[in-house]
Amino acid sequence: MKKTIAVLPGDGIGKEVTQGAVSVLQAVGERFGHQFTFTFASIGGGAIDALGTPLPDETIEVCKKSDAVLLGAVGGPKWDGLPGHLRPEKGLLRIRKELNLYANLRPVSYYAATAETSPLRPEIIAGADMLVVRELTGGLYFGKPSERSTRDGEESVVDTLFYKKKEIERVIRLAFQLADTRRKKVTSVDKANVLESSRVWRETAEEIAREYPEVTLEHMLVDNAAMQLIKNPKQFDVLVTENMFGDILSDEASVLTGSLGMLPSASISEGGPYLYEPIHGSAPDIEGKNIANPIAMILSAAMMLRTSFGLEAEAEAIENAVEQVLESGLKTSDIALNGQKPIGTAEMIEEIKATILDNQAISNIMSCYS
Ligand code: NAD
Ligand code: IPM
Ligand code: MN
Repeated sequence: MKKTIAVLPGDGIGKEVTQGAVSVLQAVGERFGHQFTFTFASIGGGAIDALGTPLPDETIEVCKKSDAVLLGAVGGPKWDGLPGHLRPEKGLLRIRKELNLYANLRPVSYYAATAETSPLRPEIIAGADMLVVRELTGGLYFGKPSERSTRDGEESVVDTLFYKKKEIERVIRLAFQLADTRRKKVTSVDKANVLESSRVWRETAEEIAREYPEVTLEHMLVDNAAMQLIKNPKQFDVLVTENMFGDILSDEASVLTGSLGMLPSASISEGGPYLYEPIHGSAPDIEGKNIANPIAMILSAAMMLRTSFGLEAEAEAIENAVEQVLESGLKTSDIALNGQKPIGTAEMIEEIKATILDNQAISNIMSCYS
């Protein structure tokens, strides 16, 4: 299979981890006989420095022409003082909007090999397996007005939580479709006791639920959901929620896996291309030290193979290699146990690559003798 992939490394550890995903994909291409062509393009702080904009037109073009997009992370203290429309994060928000990526899927799975580094007790997290479906192109992030102003003669500020009903419907419908292929439970998270937008969200969830009689719908207020995620994560199958609630809850849910550096995501649209990115940021505190965990980005590449290209065996080859490496005891510092010597970003990438290629060699030997 031949596929073109746009790669947007961005800033900070984004650059380190995307390099890892590309080289792991090259190993997958080698093992399974696929040709992946990578086109690198700029976004975020680096693009501001080079071209004066966080999302150059050329980057949008490259993404639209590609079969899928891989993105590292954007942002950093160097650009924090810039006005809102010129910040690196604006580049990320705009590419999501340009590609109409209305839903962000953030799977959170339990890994036995990292259970001990989670601050949660093993019996609480063992077997937890949920999917956060985050609305991605609406809500508080995009509503207008969003500005400083003067109201009643006083210095004021406003952000707006705006949705068209259709935007709520499509993301909730997707959550139901996904739940139908899983454990058939949707938890719709809102703040319906306060916000009108949440009351419409809740009504819409009820309407869509009638199309999926096999799937159970429950509603949960977002403050309670934040607590339940930590207290009893196993109760959740698919969570669906507004853009900002989903942003916050998914960082919280990453604690189940031991680290933010473990959580991948897929952002999907009605047509494509889809975009794949880790849920973590550019982590300026660990940038350039070869200690970032590249697994979230590498698992995002696996999601790309499965979701955009239908390459199930190839996606599993990556996921199995990640699990094998972790089970062999090799860990980056964010998931290493106290007293255990961690390996670096580059070493983790090499281990995962080598495992993918070794597994090929082993399966070749097996087929010779079977
Ligand atoms: P962050 O996700 O970058 O980091 C939070 C904490 O998690 C830090 O201590 C960091 O060292 C750690 N961490 C994150 N990823 C890790 C990894 N792969 N391996 C090991 N440790 C990891 O969030 P932040 O510090 O709040 O934000 C830093 C910058 O990143 C900001 O400019 C923010 O806007 C940006 N950001 C970008 C994205 C994105 O591009 N998708 C997401 C979140 C934050
Ligand atoms: C994420 C990030 C972004 C978001 C920021 C950097 C705009 O936190 O991808 O989770 O809030 O969507
Ligand atoms: Mn976030």
